[in-house]
This record gives sequence, structure tokens and C-alpha cells, in this order.
Amino acid sequence: MARSRKAARSANGANGANGAHAAAVPHHVKDLGLAGDGKARIEWAERHMPVLRAIRARFAKEKPLKGMRIAACLHVTTETANLMRTLQAGGAEVFLCGSNPLSTQDDVAAALVVHYDIATFAIKGEDHKTYYSHIVSCIDAEPHVTMDDGCDLVSVLHTKKKDKLKGVLAGTEETSTGVTRLRAMAADKVLRYPVIAINDADTKHLFDNRYGTGQSTLDGVLRCTNMLVAGSTVVIAGYGWCGRGLASRAKGMGATVLVTEIDPLRALEAQMDGYQVVSMAKAAPLGDLFLTVTGNKSVLRREHFAAMKDGAIIANSGHFNVEIDIPALERMSSGRRTVRPFVEEFKVSGGRRVYLLGEGRLINLAAAEGHPAMVMDMSFANQALSVEHLKKNLRSLKREVYKVPDEIDREVSRLKLASMGIAIDVPTAEQRKYMASWSEGT
Ligand SMILES: NC(=O)c1ccc[n+]([C@@H]2O[C@H](COP(=O)([O-])OP(=O)(O)OC[C@H]3O[C@@H](n4cnc5c(N)ncnc54)[C@H](O)[C@@H]3O)[C@@H](O)[C@H]2O)c1
Repeated sequence: MARSRKAARSANGANGANGAHAAAVPHHVKDLGLAGDGKARIEWAERHMPVLRAIRARFAKEKPLKGMRIAACLHVTTETANLMRTLQAGGAEVFLCGSNPLSTQDDVAAALVVHYDIATFAIKGEDHKTYYSHIVSCIDAEPHVTMDDGCDLVSVLHTKKKDKLKGVLAGTEETSTGVTRLRAMAADKVLRYPVIAINDADTKHLFDNRYGTGQSTLDGVLRCTNMLVAGSTVVIAGYGWCGRGLASRAKGMGATVLVTEIDPLRALEAQMDGYQVVSMAKAAPLGDLFLTVTGNKSVLRREHFAAMKDGAIIANSGHFNVEIDIPALERMSSGRRTVRPFVEEFKVSGGRRVYLLGEGRLINLAAAEGHPAMVMDMSFANQALSVEHLKKNLRSLKREVYKVPDEIDREVSRLKLASMGIAIDVPTAEQRKYMASWSEGT
């Protein structure tokens, strides 16, 4: 099916499709009838993605991705839709599935099929089996490039779908957890093609992980609980790029912030940034809201649930739903019920209640809309430019995990500043000479 679908494309490859085309575009989405709402929201996000817009305009002229098939496993949001449009404008044929069962925006998935002719396989709330069947649908398209967020697509390709590996030339990875998994694959010598770690670009993690996750995680918590942050005690597990952003936003809203860490340097940084660093055992009875952003597993577990106060709220914004040991919570609970959308109450010993948000999945995508478009603009500009870079430089790349080239990082920051109307100073000739010399002292 996948490779014979070019006929369904409109002449300019973007914006040209209408509902009549939808049947010819491979898809499995909730309801194509939602496409109108999705298109309006995709266009709203596009307004706030000037860097990606500039890249799309260039791609439409130069077609640098002509002939490439790309299988993307990303959160299906309005911002991702604009990335897919950019790749398509560059001449690529794109297949998209969700990178988390709860993060898909169903109206966006419908719009991608109906209005943009993009093969899409994603339904919010899909079960485990459907989630993986959607990944397989993208792999069956026989991509040249994989674009992953969390490494699930790459992992399926290297285990259950090895027969499709031969045609894959390269890939990109969006998030910290995916990069960790890929580095482990490269160390074990099982990674079969080069992958660029988008997460490691400064214009990605400094902004997306910090300001994006910082804001949107609290947005998710607030949308589903309507809690007051001011005056509450918020416990943040992990003081990495995401944790730093989250801590500063929670503090800014008036919370007392406690941080837990396993890395001494990060712990020291958190303490000097003005937070109280404690063990989770110490934090457990104190917190009103617990947020995990570690990329690790069982960070909140039985002994912590047992010590929490009545009404404690627990949520995760790390990539996988393993940061909170939900099976342990289930085992120690005498009852559970959904009290609001994305809020589940667990009855634990002594009549205490613990509230789990969004099934322990990334709360900013489960209960809110993920990061604002302004920040995804930079992350996805890195994605688009890195795919172009991969195509140009394939021959020189090994089966390793690569950094985003510095020139791409600088180009993305230059374009972003220009879009914000911000000019910076240019060093004078005297300054350039001074910075390149060693002879001048006091
Ligand atoms: N929700 C989102 O939209 C979003 C966005 C970006 C990244 N992420 C995900 O968030 C997670 C964190 O990303 P990051 O960029 O901050 O990673 P990071 O590596 O910069 O930080 C993770 C931190 O967690 C700490 N940590 C690990 N195990 C711990 C434990 N048991 N207790 C306390 N701290 C522990 C580490 O020492 C590290 O400082 C990853 O899973 C990443 O994929 C989510």
C-alpha cells in the first residue's frame, strides 16, 4: 500500500488535498470528521513557528528531500503536523505514528490525512497492541529515514521487523530517553545506521526541555486538577533540563520546591539555585504534588506511596510511564476510581487517597497540548535541517549516534532571533584579533 500512494498527492504536495483524497491516504485515525478543527489549530501553531516556516519555504523551492521516505514516530500534535508539512514540502513522502498512546491530538491526525495527504496512524488512548501496530504500519512503508521520539520505532525495527532494516539509511531522535537507548544500542554494536540526536542540540534541550516542559507540565497538571500552586509543596524528581525548567516555573508560581536527584553535581546545582535537595524518602510525607522527570524507572514507588499524605497528587513528565511504579500503587490500593478526566484516585492504607494523573504518562501531552509552538519551532527546525544534513552526508557517517552539527544549531538560533526582531552585536576587528591571541594580558 505504502509505496503506491503518490497518486493521492496533490500537485504541490501540501495544502492541496480535500476530503475526497482521504480514502487514498493510508491512515488509522479516530474520526476524519475532526479534520476542520485540526487544520485550524495546525495553522494557529504555524503562525508561531517562523523558523520552520522559513525552512519550509526554502524546502519547497529546493526539494532537498526528494525521493526520501520518512517514517516518523512523534507526538501527533499541531507542531508535529507543521514538521510533517515541512518534510513533505522538501519532497519527502512521510508516514506518521504516535510516540505515546495518550499524546495524539485526534483532530490533528484527521487533518493530516484529509488536508495534507500525510499517512497517519494514531489515536488518542489507543491500547498497547494498536500503538505497536501503528509503528509497524510506518515501518512497512519501507522508510529511508526514521524520525523517532523515545526510540520505540527504532527498537521495533531492530527486533521484530529486521527484514525492513536493509533500506533504512539514517535516523533522528528527538528526546533524552531515546538518545540514551540509542547510545546503549551503539555501545552494544546493534545499531544498524547513523542517528542524529536532536535532543543534544543546544537549540533543543536548552529551550524545549527547559522552558517547554517547565511550562507545559504545569499546564497539564492545572488543566486536570485546577489546583493552586501557590503555597503548595511541589517535589520534583530529576534536576536535568526538564527538571530545571519545572522547578523554576513552580517556584515562580509560589510553590515551595523540593528536588530529588541521584547525580551529585545536579543536586548541588539545584541547592544553589535555591531549592531544597532531599531524598525521596524525606520528601514523600511533605509533598502536595510530585512530578517525575528523570528518564529512569520506579522513582516513586511503594515505600513513597505509603508515606504520602492524604490527597497527594502524582504525575510524570518523563518519556515513559515507568517513572511511577503504578503496578505497586495498584497492589497496595483497596479501591480506585476516576474522579475527573485524567485524575484517578487510589485508596491506600489509613483511608488516605493518592491521585495519579494521566495514567503516569507525560502529563503535558496527556492532559494538555504539549509544548507551545514557539519552542517546538526550534526543536523541529533541528529535525528538518538534520534530515537534509543526513541526506547530503550519508557516505561519511558510521553506525553511531551523532550530535546535531554546530552550524545547524547556530543557524536555528540565528533564524529564531531574526524572527523575534532581535539584533546582536558583531565583534569589531580589534575584538576578533584579541580573542584569537594569547600575548595580551593585563
Ligand atoms: N514531557 C516532555 O514533553 C518532555 C520533553 C523533553 C524530555 N522529556 C523526557 O523527560 C526526561 C528527562 O529529560 P531531561 O532532558 O531533563 O534529561 P536529563 O538527563 O537532562 O535529566 C534527568 C535527570 O534525572 C536525574 N535522575 C535519574 N534518576 C533519578 C532518580 N531515581 N531520582 C532523581 N533523579 C534522577 C538524573 O541524574 C538527571 O539529572 C526524559 O525521559 C526525556 O525523554 C519529556
